[in-house]
Amino acid sequence: MTAPDEQAAFLPRTLRLPPAGHGYSEDDGDPSVVHALGQEKYELFGPACKDGFNLFWYRWVTGHQISFLLWRLVGDVLERSSHRAPTRRERVAMAACVDGYSTMLLYSATVPRELYHTHIRERMALQHPAFSGAWAPDYRPLRPLFRARFPWQGDPSCAALREAIELNHAMHARIADHLVPDGQSLLQKHSGRAGVSQEKEDLFDDFFMTVRRPVSRSALTDQLNSRIAGITADLDSNGLYPLVDGEHHTVAAEPSDGALERLAANVLLFAHRAAQLSAEAENSLEEAHL
Ligand code: HEM
Repeated sequence: MTAPDEQAAFLPRTLRLPPAGHGYSEDDGDPSVVHALGQEKYELFGPACKDGFNLFWYRWVTGHQISFLLWRLVGDVLERSSHRAPTRRERVAMAACVDGYSTMLLYSATVPRELYHTHIRERMALQHPAFSGAWAPDYRPLRPLFRARFPWQGDPSCAALREAIELNHAMHARIADHLVPDGQSLLQKHSGRAGVSQEKEDLFDDFFMTVRRPVSRSALTDQLNSRIAGITADLDSNGLYPLVDGEHHTVAAEPSDGALERLAANVLLFAHRAAQLSAEAENSLEEAHL
């Protein structure tokens, strides 16, 4: 672990994604290669954090961006399975992506509650008073999956995927309760018109530094590689829960909560596994010419 006075500044970067519902641009010959993970392990309780605001802003944006990339990989499988049920490898890859998304909920939500309210939530409310995750363009195709609407989801081969989705719902509820214990989302607090529009999707993308333009599949993988490398460096220096104002602001409420502990210890492994299994599932399709 790096000494506190050597801590690097962590700065979020612009993410480039194809418009939701659009395919990839042609690869320029580069294969899609998922880089090896630099390290799997990190301390749960890190040293004193010098620049909490910048660190947790980085986590909030980067945790969301990795979620968008993983949603996109799940969306690719769902797009392909409009013609056929997902293959066994695709089901395994989707379960890994959902687990990766769950770890990103946790990683993003490691921000101390007070800092979340004074800075992050305040900024989201300034972007739009009803700012909501429900406006995320890449989540849109996943909504039926998270609501178990596809007939193939009942198949015994989807048990791991069902468990991953259940854990994800529990994790979302957990971090929502943790960061906003007295209740309502910005959308619920805001009495304006509900519903999603292009403008709301653009505001959401803009907040998370996401630009929509043609992107090749290998460029998408590169962006996932660089973000996994970024959060590896962060967790190596700061641990999952750095010391802020003399306290480790943990999300886990119950020491006996095995599922949450498993996610907390495996943020890097789960994000990387999702990228790797998605690439393998796609490569096996190419080999089989499906
Ligand atoms: C860590 C980052 C978070 C991510 C990635 C995230 C993601 C999402 C997504 C994708 C949806 C849409 C679900 C659907 O349409 O079925 C959603 C909805 C929702 N989220 Fe989150 N969420 C996060 C944090 C929070 C927090 C801190 C709260 C606390 C209030 C919260 C409360 C809600 C609520 C109440 C909804 C339903 C729609 C709304 O009222 O806005 N989420 N979230």
